[in-house]
Formats: sequence, C-alpha cells, structure tokens
Amino acid sequence: MMGALHNKNVLVTGASSGIGRAVILAVAREGACVIALARRADRLEALSAELDARGASHGTRVCDVRDVTRMRRVFGSIRDRYEHLDVLVVNAGLGYPSTIADGAVERWREEIETNLLGALVTIQEALPLMSTGGTVVVVSSVVGRKPSRSMPVYSATKFALHPITEALRLELRERGVRVTSVQPGLVRTEFAEVGQGADAASNLYQMFPPLEPEDVADAVVWAATRPPRVSVSEILIRPTEQQF
Ligand SMILES: NC(=O)c1ccc[n+]([C@@H]2O[C@H](COP(=O)([O-])OP(=O)(O)OC[C@H]3O[C@@H](n4cnc5c(N)ncnc54)[C@H](OP(=O)(O)O)[C@@H]3O)[C@@H](O)[C@H]2O)c1
Repeated sequence: MMGALHNKNVLVTGASSGIGRAVILAVAREGACVIALARRADRLEALSAELDARGASHGTRVCDVRDVTRMRRVFGSIRDRYEHLDVLVVNAGLGYPSTIADGAVERWREEIETNLLGALVTIQEALPLMSTGGTVVVVSSVVGRKPSRSMPVYSATKFALHPITEALRLELRERGVRVTSVQPGLVRTEFAEVGQGADAASNLYQMFPPLEPEDVADAVVWAATRPPRVSVSEILIRPTEQQF
C-alpha cells in the first residue's frame, strides 16, 4: 500500500476508540505500519480485524498507561519487534466533570496519572526508538489553553502538557525529531460518555455540531507528513460553532 506514510511505523496510545482509532485508520490508509495501544482487548481485536481486512500491517498491545511496570514491559516488546518509530501519537486520556469543592480525589488521580504521567511514561519509553525525521504528536485540548470551570483537573493536565511538549521539542530538535501539540475542541468520541454518561454526552452534541474524530486524525497526518525541515508546533482545531 503506497501513501505518504508508506513503510513508516506509527504508534498510537488510546487507539481503541475515538481520535486514536481514527488516527490508526488514517495512517494505515497512508501505508503506515501501525501499533495500537489501549486497555480494552476486545476493541483492539476488532481494530486488528479491520486492519487485516484493509491489508494494513499492524500490531496491538493491551496496556494501561498508568501501570508503569507494564508499560516498560510492553515497550520492551515493541523495541524487540520494531527497529524504530517514525510517529508517536500520545493520545490516551479521559476527563471527569467536577467542581473543586466536590470533586473526588480518586478521579483527579486517575486524570493526572492517565493524561500526564501516562503521557510522560509513553514518551520516555518510545524515545529510544525515535530518530531523525520522526514526529511526536501530543493530543492536548482547547481546555489546555483556556481552563474549563467544569473540568478543572482535566484542564490542568492538558495545560501541563504544553511545557512538556515544548521542552521535548528543545530536547529532540538536534536529533531531527519534531514535536506537535494538537489541541481539539469538542469531538464526537466516547470521551464525554466515559466522563459524564450517555445522556449528558448526547446533550452536549445538541449544542453545536462537534468535530468528528477523522477531522483530528487529518490534522495529525498533516503534521506528520510535512518535510523534515518543518516542525508544526501547535494545531488548535475547533468546531466552527464552538464559542470557547
Ligand atoms: N473528545 C473530545 O471532545 C476531546 C477534546 C479535546 C481533547 N481530547 C483528547 O483526545 C484524546 C482521545 O480522547 P477521545 O476523545 O478519542 O476519547 P475516547 O473515545 O474515550 O478515547 C480515549 C482513549 O484513551 C484510552 N485510555 C483511557 N484511559 C487509558 C489508560 N489508563 N490506559 C490506556 N489507554 C487509556 C481509551 O482506551 P481504553 O479504555 O480501551 O483503555 C481510548 O482508546 C484524549 O487525550 C482527550 O483528552 C478529546
């Protein structure tokens, strides 16, 4: 399969649904060999079958980005199997609505451990495989630029990804690896349902037409297929009718 990512190895965390799944399918369409990570084995199996049907080269690994020991083992197996990674998409994440007054500490911990520590461990484990011409894409959020009153800790995790992506850019630029922060507004995925339940999620999408996961995947593919001299630092992508 020829395409802009022909023979490139692309690893995506949070690949079992939403944006991550759309990125996997988009880069596979461009000829990439994909490596999909997430916790839900059944979803990864279904994705695997879909990739098989499309003739795409792929591997999957079941893992929780909060489990550092397991992450190190999983990336050990990835390093044994793949000589290098061309694109790393740090995407696994979740968010719960809460006020500061009433939020549950365990949920805050889950958000911080998944969105922030999970991202850091993913990047650290993948770095030995990244070489010249590679791209790290970190999926942040519009609420990482403008805090959400209803999701303060989620916003904090996404704000915190910005100094990390910029420091990473400085760390990797001499190696010829570029770093992109993709900051979506509202996207129709399982995110709202996981954090707020199905009814709240469908109400949210009544406000204005959200982005589709494929819209964000397009942005990721675009950033990753620029010439090696071009480093796209940030992409803010929002639904046309979204106010914030
Ligand atoms: N949807 C939006 O409006 C929106 C807007 C801005 C930014 N984002 C960001 O986009 C990213 C993707 O979210 P999405 O919207 O596509 O939602 P989604 O459909 O719920 O997908 C989230 C993905 O993250 C994975 N994940 C969650 N916790 C994990 C963990 N502990 N270990 C490994 N994987 C984990 C999930 O897989 P498993 O459950 O199978 O592990 C799933 O594949 C997130 O970082 C989110 O913050 C979303």
